[in-house]
Amino acid sequence: MDSRISARALAQALGGWRGRGPAYEALADGIRLLCLDNRIAPRTALPAERELAAALTLSRTTVAATYRSLRDSGHIESLRGSGSVTLPLRRNDPGADDRRDGVIDLQQASPPAWPGLPAAISEVAQDAAALVSRTGYDVVGDPHLRETIAQRYRDRGMPTRADQILVTTGAQSALHLIASVLLSRADRVLIETPTYPHGADAFRAAGARLVGVPVSPDDGWDLDRAAQTFARVLPALAYLMPDFQNPTGRTMSPGEVDAFVDGSQRAGTFLVLDETTSELDIDRRTTGTAFPDFDRVIRVGSLGKTVWGGLRVGWVRAHADVVRRLASGRPVHDLGTPEFEQAVAARLIGRLDEISAQRADVLRGGRDALVAALASSFPEWEVPSVNGGVSLWVGIGEPVSTPLVMNARARGLLLSAGSRFAVDGGHDRRLRIPFTAAPHTLERAVSVLRAAWEDVRGTTAGAALDDLTAVV
Ligand SMILES: Cc1ncc(COP(=O)(O)O)c(C=O)c1O
Repeated sequence: MDSRISARALAQALGGWRGRGPAYEALADGIRLLCLDNRIAPRTALPAERELAAALTLSRTTVAATYRSLRDSGHIESLRGSGSVTLPLRRNDPGADDRRDGVIDLQQASPPAWPGLPAAISEVAQDAAALVSRTGYDVVGDPHLRETIAQRYRDRGMPTRADQILVTTGAQSALHLIASVLLSRADRVLIETPTYPHGADAFRAAGARLVGVPVSPDDGWDLDRAAQTFARVLPALAYLMPDFQNPTGRTMSPGEVDAFVDGSQRAGTFLVLDETTSELDIDRRTTGTAFPDFDRVIRVGSLGKTVWGGLRVGWVRAHADVVRRLASGRPVHDLGTPEFEQAVAARLIGRLDEISAQRADVLRGGRDALVAALASSFPEWEVPSVNGGVSLWVGIGEPVSTPLVMNARARGLLLSAGSRFAVDGGHDRRLRIPFTAAPHTLERAVSVLRAAWEDVRGTTAGAALDDLTAVV
């Protein structure tokens, strides 16, 4: 057996799992969703029935029935003496094979590749002989690309030298590197909730304790909570997405920027600003947040959303000493970013304004189609208005995000439940719906969602809902 999940961790990952029908089956569905999302890996030992029952304040009989249902559906096996263990997914699990015809996958919020990318790749391929005459790897990145990225910051009014840039294999590897080099076990990390879940996972994996600061599409960042967190726990690091926050789409106001700068400077906190979504401005209303520069500001960028997720080129912009620290910690998991991708990136960074304008058109089409479809199919839902980013953080009014997502999966629509974006539980009344897909796909997705919603609401309304609010 490779790993185990504690009752507490499982209860937290489940968030609100109650939905339609008997509790044991709703709980089984919640656990199935965690397996489908790969948040519980195959061959993970589940907690003993008694422990899970205590953590969820359920009877042991209910948990026993849940495990029986999971055994019957082939998701776990129970062995005498060693408890219950998750099994690899079966091909016919909804969403286990996302190449199935007709499946709509809205779990990732990735726009299609920028149409000019194939030509840029071909051009670089023409220069293959010159490319392979170089060493081929470098932990800080190709000097020309570092200079090109530095120039982009200078164009935005931020004096930057190439030695302040470290090229990474996408923003995710930058976050992982920052977490592993700058954090020690039990350090506190201030983090938005909801947040980008793999970012949160990178800080958790470094042994940090996450302290959530709420952010919402309507009210922005909870500055009282942020000030208290800076003052009380002196976080080693704060992870923020100031522009078009993923998933809320919210952008920080100057007052919000000042509050985070002030709090982090008083507490000596590294401020990690994830700029992966910052160029995804649809309505050209914002000029981007102007976070001032100081030694502890670390910016993370990527071409993943602007150009193509498959390019895997990102970077860190930080004080040169921080870049050196990161570079010395990098080789343990990665010796550098592929040269070919870096050469492609170097050709594209200078064209980012043109690329962003095309992205704005694509994202506008998706956002407007999704907002219109939701308005007509779900007048009762709270659909925020956003000026950029990749998704809508929709309020669904009832804490049924997980059963809704499970029901939609069975109908061939893959989405992530609100709790996936939570730092310390909750967000079960929210659903993240990316608008990166084509308008007709989004319209189809909303009609599938309507059918799933009617099904889930079928027995959660009225008396069943009262029961549910008492439990959740
Ligand atoms: C906010 C945020 N940060 C980082 C990443 C990871 O980016 P990359 O694909 O460059 O690793 C993503 C991707 O979804 C993201 O949304």
